Amino acid sequence: MPTVLALETSCDESAAAIVRDRTVLASAIASQVEEHARWGGVVPEIASRRHLEALPALIEQVVVASGVGLDAVDAIAATVAPGLVGALLVGSVTARTLARLHDRPFLGVHHLEAHLASAQLDPEPLHGEYLVLLVSGGHTELVRVDGPGRYRRLGRSHDDAAGECFDKVARLLGLGYPGGPAIEAMARGGDPQAFPLPKGRVSLPEGGFHPYDFSFSGLKTAMLRRIEALRESGEGLPLADLAASFEQVVAEVLVERSCRCAADQGLNTLVLVGGVAANRRLRQLLAERAERQGLGWRVAPLAWCTDNAAMVGVAACQRLDSGCRSPIALGVAPRLPLGDAGCLYDSQPCF
Ligand code: KG4
Ligand code: ZN
Repeated sequence: MPTVLALETSCDESAAAIVRDRTVLASAIASQVEEHARWGGVVPEIASRRHLEALPALIEQVVVASGVGLDAVDAIAATVAPGLVGALLVGSVTARTLARLHDRPFLGVHHLEAHLASAQLDPEPLHGEYLVLLVSGGHTELVRVDGPGRYRRLGRSHDDAAGECFDKVARLLGLGYPGGPAIEAMARGGDPQAFPLPKGRVSLPEGGFHPYDFSFSGLKTAMLRRIEALRESGEGLPLADLAASFEQVVAEVLVERSCRCAADQGLNTLVLVGGVAANRRLRQLLAERAERQGLGWRVAPLAWCTDNAAMVGVAACQRLDSGCRSPIALGVAPRLPLGDAGCLYDSQPCF
């Protein structure tokens, strides 16, 4: 069972963890959310600087808490794709420097592969083939997993990611950043049926609609129009009803298309991961619909939905088990698709 030190710095959470196979020995996260909240979103330059300041203490913290020294780990890993280029570089350079100093192998990890691996942070391992709904601030994807490193994307958003839509709508409602938790809190006590909202669909060139793809831009515009009309009428905004209606339609659209995709693919397990997977309404609806359809389901543990280094460690352990190592000169790739994750372990990476 390999033991790995893993770092995560792809966006606005600085994180370190020591993971043994699928067990988290220690994990530490320094969130920059408050700092970016002033600007209404992540400022890349600030993110890089904060990662640089936070990482040494986080690494020290997980080494002390786990009792595993850096000479005792089997490898040192960091997220190297996709994400903010400067932010990724901080984690990657730190991990590669430590790997050199302690003479350990280095593994670059794909951030989406790490989110997929977060579902393995459960007493029961996931085996065989399954469908993953990956919903984060940057991605909304339906991924068929046929084994470690074997992924096929079956659905995606054509515009905003689900988390991005939560963030933008929260801003329209004046609820602050990050929008997901703010909308979830406001939706409590609201009526999810108060406002009918569109379930954006993606047209196919040959007619009809794509069965598994998503579009959230129309929903965002519908929310904007609704808010403007309510403001013009001079009444105060019914924030709880607006938040609950929005949360409900996003959850329905995600769950309906995922369940249909799993059924069409003959897959009997549906897995929910990523920052938006922290949403309770989404978790609940997925469980209800999957059970009604006789589909097995799993959601990533709440603590490992939003960005963290434990999931990077699990992904690295899986790759290590398959004999993968990254070249020490590996760069970072801000836009590498998940399907190309394997190239992080080639002597000549594809980017
Ligand atoms: O996975 P993540 O931490 O970072 C990325 O890889 O993007 O996801 C962050 C996203 C943000 O858009 C945030 O608003 C959303 O996840 N999020 C939520 C909740 N918690 C975080 N969305 C809905 N409900 C939540 N409880
Ligand atoms: Zn993420």
